[in-house]
Amino acid sequence: MDAFQLLFLVAVVTSISEWKSVSDSCNSQCKTMNEESFRVLEGESFFFVPYIIFKPNFNNKNFTWYKYVTQIQNISSDKKARVHYQGEALFLLNLSISDSAYYTAWEIKSSGRCVNHAVKIEVYNASYKGSKMLSYGEIKNSDQSKTVNCPDPVQRACSEFKGNITWYKDYTLIKDQHEVKVRVHHATKDHEGLYTCICTWAYNNKVYNTSGSRELVLQETAMHHLEILTPADESREQFADEGSEIKLNCSVLCGTNVKHDCNASWYINGIPFKNRDGYSQTTKIAIAEPSKNTIVTAILTIKKVSAKDFQQKFGCFGEGYYGKDNTTLTLKRKESIIPLAIGGVCVLFIGVFVAVLVKYFAIDLALFFRPYFPLSSSNKDTSLYDAYVVYQTPMDKITEDRLSQFIIQTLPSVLEDKCGYRLFIHGRDDIPGEDRLELVEECMNQSRRLMVILTPDLGSGSVTTERWPASPQTSVMGGFDWQVGLHHALVQRELSVILIQLGDTGPQQYTHLPPGLQHLIRKSAPLKWPEGSGGAAAWNSRFWKRVRYLMPATPVKKCAQSTIV
Ligand SMILES: *[C@@H]1O[C@H](CO)[C@@H](O)[C@H](O)[C@H]1NC(C)=O
Ligand SMILES: *[C@@H]1O[C@H](CO)[C@@H](O)[C@H](O)[C@H]1NC(C)=O
Ligand SMILES: *[C@@H]1O[C@H](CO)[C@@H](O)[C@H](O)[C@H]1NC(C)=O
Ligand SMILES: *[C@@H]1O[C@H](CO)[C@@H](O)[C@H](O)[C@H]1NC(C)=O
Ligand SMILES: *[C@@H]1O[C@H](CO)[C@@H](O)[C@H](O)[C@H]1NC(C)=O
Ligand SMILES: *[C@@H]1O[C@H](CO)[C@@H](O)[C@H](O)[C@H]1NC(C)=O
Ligand SMILES: *[C@@H]1O[C@H](CO)[C@@H](O)[C@H](O)[C@H]1NC(C)=O
Ligand SMILES: *[C@@H]1O[C@H](CO)[C@@H](O)[C@H](O)[C@H]1NC(C)=O
Ligand SMILES: *[C@@H]1O[C@H](CO)[C@@H](O)[C@H](O)[C@H]1NC(C)=O
Repeated sequence: MDAFQLLFLVAVVTSISEWKSVSDSCNSQCKTMNEESFRVLEGESFFFVPYIIFKPNFNNKNFTWYKYVTQIQNISSDKKARVHYQGEALFLLNLSISDSAYYTAWEIKSSGRCVNHAVKIEVYNASYKGSKMLSYGEIKNSDQSKTVNCPDPVQRACSEFKGNITWYKDYTLIKDQHEVKVRVHHATKDHEGLYTCICTWAYNNKVYNTSGSRELVLQETAMHHLEILTPADESREQFADEGSEIKLNCSVLCGTNVKHDCNASWYINGIPFKNRDGYSQTTKIAIAEPSKNTIVTAILTIKKVSAKDFQQKFGCFGEGYYGKDNTTLTLKRKESIIPLAIGGVCVLFIGVFVAVLVKYFAIDLALFFRPYFPLSSSNKDTSLYDAYVVYQTPMDKITEDRLSQFIIQTLPSVLEDKCGYRLFIHGRDDIPGEDRLELVEECMNQSRRLMVILTPDLGSGSVTTERWPASPQTSVMGGFDWQVGLHHALVQRELSVILIQLGDTGPQQYTHLPPGLQHLIRKSAPLKWPEGSGGAAAWNSRFWKRVRYLMPATPVKKCAQSTIV
């Protein structure tokens, strides 16, 4: 209601009270009929007959009309006057703003009693053309076919003066519509709008217009259906922290286009929720576009979750047109993730620790567990030797001494005496006079590993680079061994090779060695004999552990004994 309307209302109230006092003083027996009220457009004309009179008698002399704005005014009964009356009918022709007033007819019945017919006329200027303020109301129903009736005063003028009706929709002409009603079949959104009928009527040889409008509004039919959306069936527990705020959402779908009969509310332990300290509920209903789904949501806010709340049952109640439904929700303490995180970190840490341990002590572990997991193949193995040891006889005296020290003393003392392996070592184990070729081949076949001792090639570059086959000593002794061994290792892949490096490789690296051996070196780096270091000679030093790791799991002696015996 704008300021203009408010002012008008105040004016009306005061004027009515004055009017009453006037009429009372005039004729205390006068019966006042219900007041009628119309809003009309400036420039148009208005023909009024009190609603209880079906057919107006223009010659009833017992009717007298008055106008009241601030005081009572006489109204002319002269037909030529712009505003005049004729018996029971009032004519307001070519309306002007100043015609806004109360009009009343005093009727003196034959019984002598008085009846007061009153009408309020508000005249609006042309800028109100098409305004809803002047509308005679909405036509709003869910019928498929709709009828728009020309408003009553317009119909009356038209039937009284044989006027012509034309229809407009939103002030554009509807062609060939001259009836008092317009029918709309299968109404759609496009049919919505302001329907105006204008009656053009002739009176005293002049033509006048009277119009009236109605709004057509489509109303979609409501489809009722009740469903609780949240708390959903599968989420009837909600996690909460004690002491913190929580909002519980009770969301109910009531169907489509539902305007009434849709309610959601919270119950606590089966009792309807009432606002109290720390708890509050807000309810909101919304129709979603374009689905028209009507969803009502009740939010229960608990300012501070207390221990008691974890024991309570929170009920979400939905109420629709056809029935009710409810679901129950309980609160559950949030599991703290800190212990979980600590556990995870510990597991990770242990995992890393174990991985590091395994990496550094893999060989020790393998050696430790070896006796408990004997390889089945070793049982069938009938070899006589665990390893066949070959070496190169060096040219210089120092290296030769170091080599013979290692071969004759260190190697057997650890592998044979301490570990129980059986080795075939050249120079030590071959019986003089035996057929070398046959012996080497035989022994190689009887060995499970080929152990190659590599010595540095000191200053040999000046003598010869291909000393293996060229040297008269090694060509006979080492040369053939090598060939047979490498053949076994590389071609037949029966023998695993253990490479041990004595001293430094020198500037030449391994280029002086035969290609087959270089290939083996590239596959696995030789184990370096750490001659100088104190603990190296000890049988459980890192070096010997690595050697033992490469050696067969069970010494041949035991097997040989068991097979021989
Ligand atoms: C109204 O009409 C009555 C008689 O019909 C007359 O006595 C009176 O003076 C008139 N009043 C005005 C304001 O014209
Ligand atoms: C209606 O009244 C206005 C003045 O209020 C005038 O200018 C106009 O000509 C009148 N129209 C008719 C049709 O009498
Ligand atoms: C008007 O009143 C008179 C006397 O009260 C009565 O005779 C007459 O029939 C009435 N006229 C009409 C049209 O009612
Ligand atoms: C119509 O009346 C409104 C207020 O009632 C006013 O603001 C507007 O200027 C008027 N228009 C004309 C054309 O008189
Ligand atoms: C109504 O229409 C008829 C025929 O179209 C015409 O003769 C008559 O004059 C019209 N009446 C008015 C008041 O315009
Ligand atoms: C009556 O309304 C018609 C439009 O329907 C318009 O052409 C005509 O001028 C109006 N006549 C008067 C007297 O306002
Ligand atoms: C409540 O739940 C409904 C349905 O799951 C959802 O659409 C709505 O956004 C929720 N409201 C709040 C405030 O969480
Ligand atoms: C919804 O239900 C609650 C609890 O029953 C009630 O207080 C409230 O008035 C209802 N609201 C409507 C719109 O029916
Ligand atoms: C809640 O619903 C169950 C069935 O789902 C019904 O048995 C119970 O009576 C309902 N509670 C209330 C208070 O309506």
